[in-house]
Amino acid sequence: TLGGYPDFMAKEINEQPEAIERLLHDRLGEHGIEMDELNMTAEELASVDRIYLVACGTSYHVCLIARAMIEDWAKIPVFCEYASELNYKEPLVTDHTLCVIVTQSGETADTLTAARRMKGLGCKVFAVTNVLGSTAARESDGTLYVQAGPEICVCSTKAYTAQMVACSLLALRLALANGQMDQTEVERHFRNLQAMPALIREVISRRWQDQEASRLFRSAHSALFLGRGVNSTTAYEGALKLKEVSYLHAEAYPAGEMKHGPIALLEPGFPVVAIVPADHVHDKTVSNIQEVIARGATCIAVATDGDEKIAKLCDNVLWIPPVPEEYLVPIVAIVHLQMLARYVAIARGCDVDKPRNLAKSVTVE
Ligand code: M6R
Repeated sequence: TLGGYPDFMAKEINEQPEAIERLLHDRLGEHGIEMDELNMTAEELASVDRIYLVACGTSYHVCLIARAMIEDWAKIPVFCEYASELNYKEPLVTDHTLCVIVTQSGETADTLTAARRMKGLGCKVFAVTNVLGSTAARESDGTLYVQAGPEICVCSTKAYTAQMVACSLLALRLALANGQMDQTEVERHFRNLQAMPALIREVISRRWQDQEASRLFRSAHSALFLGRGVNSTTAYEGALKLKEVSYLHAEAYPAGEMKHGPIALLEPGFPVVAIVPADHVHDKTVSNIQEVIARGATCIAVATDGDEKIAKLCDNVLWIPPVPEEYLVPIVAIVHLQMLARYVAIARGCDVDKPRNLAKSVTVE
């Protein structure tokens, strides 16, 4: 039931903090991250030398963030693949390749086919899913349930953030197993993950900012989303949310790519959403925002509280509180873009829970 919310999208956006709290509960043990579900011995885990992360849609975006963390923390090379692409090429599998499939429903046909193929090639297959007893869970060697609770809205929100947290735990587990991180470091990262629910609650309480910004899309035909590093993924996911629920065309690019083509789209009033948190690439993205503004386009920034440069430069800012770790910013920043997409869709008279042409789980290849 809706429990007082106007639609499932609103309900599920609001459920994100509790979903993450559930997932983190009892995960930090004396020996690091508790993840027996992996069904792999310490030796097997330590010997993983390559990882394939495979998924579709929003779950694929989770893989892009997971790659950054696994490569940095565990120093294991990662390949991210759309399941529908991997199914028609030859994966480069070693004797110690781990395949991780990420699927909210656990029933996405392309993802299941990819998992079966990787298994056939001798890989261990691990599933990150939200649905207990799903096909993905039954057919995998191990399963991590993200426990976000049933996601009814076709557009994925709480599963996205919960899956990102689940993959952070996996990255920490791998880093501890292969000696790239010690217990103290793992604990430090875990504490940062524990800060996520409160930060998301804070962003949700600022939803009026998204409601205001949604007015800028009133006469728009298209929108551009920009971000750098892990937040180029926030841009991809923000654009997907907007397209899916509001039927407004949206494209996303790593901010530095704008000058290689998309800049030609800019004209007065064209909405550009720039994710520009306080991080090591902040000033580079600010330069892109200056280019956007110089062409008369409208910039809607997602920025960190206290960023005076952005406050001066942009009329429209979706503010996020400071996040203790750069890799975790996407978990907080996306909440604004989920709410923005919802408000734009409602203003355009769309049914946010059941967008046209889409099914909650895509069971055909
Ligand atoms: O259930 P899955 O995570 O495997 O679904 C994958 C995609 O179909 C799904 O994420 C889709 O992109 C969502 N509707 C996006 O909001």
